[in-house]
Amino acid sequence: MINNSYINIFKINRFTINRFAINRFTMGKIMCGIVGCVLTNRKAAPILLECISKLEYRGYDSVGISTVDENGIHLKKGSGKIKEVDDKIDLGELPGSTGIAHVRWATHGIPSKENSHPHISNEGNISVVHNGIIENFGEIRESLESEGYIFHSQTDTEVIPILIEKYMDKGFNLEDALKKTLKIIKGSYAIGAISKNNPNEIVAARKDSPLIIGVGDKDYFIASDAPAILNYTKNVIYVDNGEIAILNHDGVIVKDSKDNIVDKKINLIEWDAEMAQKEGYDYFMLKEIHEQDSAIKDTLSERDNINEIITEIGNISRICFVACGTSYHASLTGKYLIESMAGIPTDVILASEFKYSANTLNKDTLVIFISQSGETADTLKALKVAKKTSKTLAIVNVLGSSATREADFVIYTRAGPEIGVAATKTYISQLICIYMFAAILANNKKLLDSLDEVPEYISEILAKEGEISEIASKYINVNDFFFIGRGLSYPTALEGALKLKEITYIHGEGYAAGELKHGPLALIDDNVPVVVIVPPGDNYDKTISNLEEVKARGANVIAIGSCADEFIKTEVTDSFCIDENVNEIIAPLIYVVPLQLLSYYISVKRGLDPDKPKNLAKCVTVE
Ligand code: AGP
Repeated sequence: MINNSYINIFKINRFTINRFAINRFTMGKIMCGIVGCVLTNRKAAPILLECISKLEYRGYDSVGISTVDENGIHLKKGSGKIKEVDDKIDLGELPGSTGIAHVRWATHGIPSKENSHPHISNEGNISVVHNGIIENFGEIRESLESEGYIFHSQTDTEVIPILIEKYMDKGFNLEDALKKTLKIIKGSYAIGAISKNNPNEIVAARKDSPLIIGVGDKDYFIASDAPAILNYTKNVIYVDNGEIAILNHDGVIVKDSKDNIVDKKINLIEWDAEMAQKEGYDYFMLKEIHEQDSAIKDTLSERDNINEIITEIGNISRICFVACGTSYHASLTGKYLIESMAGIPTDVILASEFKYSANTLNKDTLVIFISQSGETADTLKALKVAKKTSKTLAIVNVLGSSATREADFVIYTRAGPEIGVAATKTYISQLICIYMFAAILANNKKLLDSLDEVPEYISEILAKEGEISEIASKYINVNDFFFIGRGLSYPTALEGALKLKEITYIHGEGYAAGELKHGPLALIDDNVPVVVIVPPGDNYDKTISNLEEVKARGANVIAIGSCADEFIKTEVTDSFCIDENVNEIIAPLIYVVPLQLLSYYISVKRGLDPDKPKNLAKCVTVE
């Protein structure tokens, strides 16, 4: 049994927590969350509901709870956010003091009740929650089906309860049946399993997906992450790769892969639940800005899919992007890339204005819909219209969302759940998809390969985040900002201005740098700071001329440019420099990061909550 005498104390500090977040918790994607509990004298379901709600940041496609008592396994689950599902089926109303729960971010199979966890074995004796991916589930499923087992979902997870039941039917106990199962499955997992035969027991296992155990007075928990259980216990054990844990009324036993009992330390966590949920970041937006390098790496895995889609689509004479907000800015970057590299005429239309252009589409037009949520009403309406005449492609973050079901072809941005209302990591992931799409269309292997370097450039920026915070301090009381750039830096300017408006409530205007002299220059004076995006490349000299124009009108210039550029270091009010190897072609993927941080820090320094800007919603489902 667990030795309670040794307690490590983790101080509350973002970097300490991040160290654990990276090393312990996030080996693999933050997708799906699990919890489980063995309680003494209390019903498990209401507590599981509260615990799993703390993990909604890990996924919100579906939710489910399963409990066990002397009458067997009980289950409630459904697709949708926790509150929606709970309002319909009262998730906390299940008997038993032992149970497991799950929130899902779909990876295999669309979000649906059938694909929701927990998954139950054929005879209903075993219930399982899983976070991770079972890579060889296809072959296991085929072999189990040939033995007569029936599958009710499209998930990789369902093989686990079926295998456990198969071994229990042969006489193994729950623990040994799980061990036999782990020998067969390949991939990553944090698993929690309960059985009708053991109404007071959970067995759990971990490989490359996060799993902790909570040790209460007489109550024991499992969870993907500490925030889930901090209201019940702050004493946690970190389960290491290859270990399994058995939790029952007697306590917790952890065994290694050779079946030896491991003397695990109990660590005292001093975070409060909310702080831990954000992994120590003050806001989800900052956490998501920091997740951009991994979002890019994951999204780059769509390359083969994009290749196949382009081959299947065949000849197209025109491309038309349709999107809203940040997704519109990503689309605009696509226009510049596709027209300049592939020579295909490309339009970008705001989804809410699409109906006026709909009759210009034909069968040789490819209409590309970009949407983080895949549920934006304006975008969906346009998609339904475009389908009637043209081939449609959706670039979407949320698996199984409406746009993915409507479109002919789908590319996923693999950014994981984005909680902050302001799009950050999903914008970068959309851009990565667009860059891959344009580079493959134009047969530009050099550009395609250069995308692998983007995460490193972003990490370099994040390492200098403090410089942006200092710049932000100087501008918290201004009323207006301009953001200017030329060519591919123009959409970046628009996106910088949108970020500023939505989370700081300061008026920000993005403008094509060369267009300023045709009107807005009249607004520029020493009260209007101008952010100039000026990466090295063909547009550099002309952008510097525009910078001089605003400087001459008294504007405080904040220049974002190359670290090799002496001019921006000495001749402007403030500057932030980026690796000199980043040229203007790939700059949109990198130069936007300091703009996100600038808005974030201005927002926080003005005392605002950047995650929940007033009047805005993450997903806009009205026209
Ligand atoms: C971006 O920060 C905004 N939250 C917003 O502009 C958003 O991009 C827009 O509403 C479109 O949403 P979608 O990508 O989910 O379709």
